[in-house]
Amino acid sequence: MKISPEYYEGRGPALVKHTFILSYLPTLIAKVASAYDQFVYVDLFAGPWEERTADFSDTAFGIALDAMRGGKSVWKRNGRPVKMTAHLVDINPEAIAKQKQVAERYPDIEVHHHQGMAEEKIQAVLNSLPHNAFCFVYIDPKGVPDIRKFQAAIERPNTEVFLNFMYKFATRFANTPQMTTLGWLTEGEEGESFRSDLALLSGVDRENALTDRARLVLARMGGYRYSPAITVDEESMDRCRYKLIFLSRHHKGIFVFRNAQRAALQMQASNRSSQKSIKKARQTGMDDLLKDLEPIHAGERSAREIDQGIRSGIAYANRLIDQSGREGITFGDLWPRVLEEEVVTHSDLCHAIRDLRDQGRIEIPSWTPRKRKPDDDYRLFSSKYMQD
Ligand SMILES: C[S@@+](CC[C@H](N)C(=O)[O-])C[C@H]1O[C@@H](n2cnc3c(N)ncnc32)[C@H](O)[C@@H]1O
Repeated sequence: MKISPEYYEGRGPALVKHTFILSYLPTLIAKVASAYDQFVYVDLFAGPWEERTADFSDTAFGIALDAMRGGKSVWKRNGRPVKMTAHLVDINPEAIAKQKQVAERYPDIEVHHHQGMAEEKIQAVLNSLPHNAFCFVYIDPKGVPDIRKFQAAIERPNTEVFLNFMYKFATRFANTPQMTTLGWLTEGEEGESFRSDLALLSGVDRENALTDRARLVLARMGGYRYSPAITVDEESMDRCRYKLIFLSRHHKGIFVFRNAQRAALQMQASNRSSQKSIKKARQTGMDDLLKDLEPIHAGERSAREIDQGIRSGIAYANRLIDQSGREGITFGDLWPRVLEEEVVTHSDLCHAIRDLRDQGRIEIPSWTPRKRKPDDDYRLFSSKYMQD
């Protein structure tokens, strides 16, 4: 399945979410199906919502069902039957009726539809899941529900969560007691001091502080090591609309996440750049400009995040290698720590390590001549510790 940006005019943020899902799920399914007999996709606010395609390829669950079908058939060819199940919840009966049309096209996947409030349906969905199933839970409300209502799903073992944190609402109310559904962010003494600190912040500092708080609380709720976030901006303004927070307990999760985040940020950079150019061309009456557009404006926020993430990732890797002194650090210890902190992919990091070695800044004694990227058991040393 492909994402067609033309179906997303005026729905730029959905384009970013769906690009992530399209990139993430097939790889996740390919990896987990080797160890689990069943993969379950749980979509708690499934929609569809403002879809424009007849085959629902511009909806998250349409993309997910297609990824599940693909994963199932690959494993079947390899002689391994993997059961695929989807639970789609929505409050709106019309949405459920549309879901059923799509599900008919996927007889190879067991699709369950639940009409009602996600907060009330979640426990029954969880009760129906076998322990040995791997579960991907997508929580994509339009507003700000009380996340504590989904705690049982977040706590479930063998689970990853992808949650839309509505930053634009949260930032308005997080340092006031007005929005009780945000209570999970500021519970207890620690939460109170967070609230007073937040009241003093604005701009990017506020955005980072509030996002980090949400990531921390969610990670703690389910004992997740990794809780990175993707920034989704308004289509025509340099302002954050929401943060897509991803929860995983496994280093393979962060590996695949960073690749899918890159795809989503590139899509956002390209979409927002062309929206800006279209607007400018219309304002100036120079519609011919559109013919010669640069695909991505270097100053676009996601483009800058990609660039900055790579630079910070390399700098952090260098610091960790330096700090490891004469003992050095294995690449297998290094990369999950770097990917956890910075918006950088495993492949970016492999290139950077090779360049650092070629420049003589680090040494890797086990490196063999034709090697292109480091193995996990390779030990990396800062050259300054190898000279004396
Ligand atoms: C943002 S749309 C979902 C878009 C979809 N997840 C996607 O990415 O294509 C939110 C959906 O949640 C549904 N909804 C709103 N409140 C709900 C609730 N409490 N429980 C379940 N569904 C709800 C709406 O009917 C709507 O279809």
